[in-house]
Amino acid sequence: MQLAITGPTSGIGVEKVKALAPKFDQVFLLVRDIEKAKALVKKISTEDTAGKFIPVFCDLADLASVKKAAEVIRTHTDSIDVLINNAGGIFPKRTTTKDELELTFSANHLGHFLLTKELMPLLTNGNGARIINVSSEAHKAASVNLNDLQFEKGYSSFKAYGNAKLFNILFTKSLAEKFGEQHIEAYALHPGVVNTNFGQQSKGFFKMLISLFKPFMISPGKGAETGIFLASTAEVPGKNGDYFKKSKVASPSRKAESKKLRDQIWEKSEELVKKLA
Ligand SMILES: NC(=O)c1ccc[n+]([C@@H]2O[C@H](COP(=O)([O-])OP(=O)(O)OC[C@H]3O[C@@H](n4cnc5c(N)ncnc54)[C@H](OP(=O)(O)O)[C@@H]3O)[C@@H](O)[C@H]2O)c1
Repeated sequence: MQLAITGPTSGIGVEKVKALAPKFDQVFLLVRDIEKAKALVKKISTEDTAGKFIPVFCDLADLASVKKAAEVIRTHTDSIDVLINNAGGIFPKRTTTKDELELTFSANHLGHFLLTKELMPLLTNGNGARIINVSSEAHKAASVNLNDLQFEKGYSSFKAYGNAKLFNILFTKSLAEKFGEQHIEAYALHPGVVNTNFGQQSKGFFKMLISLFKPFMISPGKGAETGIFLASTAEVPGKNGDYFKKSKVASPSRKAESKKLRDQIWEKSEELVKKLA
């Protein structure tokens, strides 16, 4: 059994890796900082898990690096059982990536879109696989302008993040729809409001909001629970493509259920990776 996870070096990702590693034979740690991954492996390896971890460089904000990461994984295995697209972030200022994409869009959505697509032959090889996309309740604040997905006009960190987290849910539903017959299950989740490094670079009102909420935030261990449940339970309750909170099916926004919007986002994402990756 093989697990691949993005964002394993901090917050809820660390806790997922710690809890899930004993259940898998190989754990691919997709990271943008190999030294951080090595330090993590040293810290969390037990008698049970030593030798299972394979750090793979993958900067989700650099499409060439994402493509290369999938290539590296393909040299180790021909099958992935669980892929957790966990990494993400919110960024105070509009920043563009090497591919000239807006960073929130690239790191939260498009990098995972390409990674999943590149790993699809390993996921659809007949054994059945699960893809878990870490979204957020912030998707309910999304306001999508299909002609300006890169926020060239009127960047707001919260709007850009809300949109990216909406795209995570739309992507999940598209995966279930397009690959369900090939035994792919895809689920999205909200982990809760968790005390991690998330939002640490924020400024102004959002920073104030984070410090105000800190005492009420749940621990990374608690925040990881829904992801661990979806990755390890024999039968997921609900249907393929569902959105989860506290390990139960939850209702996403109406936009997240829109077939038209998910097809549009899939098409736009595919165009971008074809052009840039
Ligand atoms: N915390 C919350 O309250 C909350 C609420 C709802 C949803 N979420 C979602 O939960 C997920 C995990 O967040 P967290 O709270 O655990 O935050 P975190 O502690 O900041 O961890 C984020 C992880 O993503 C990685 N990452 C960020 N940008 C990347 C990139 N360009 N390429 C590769 N990896 C990248 C980080 O790597 P480094 O270690 O190198 O920085 C880190 O491992 C995110 O998708 C977030 O949107 C969090």
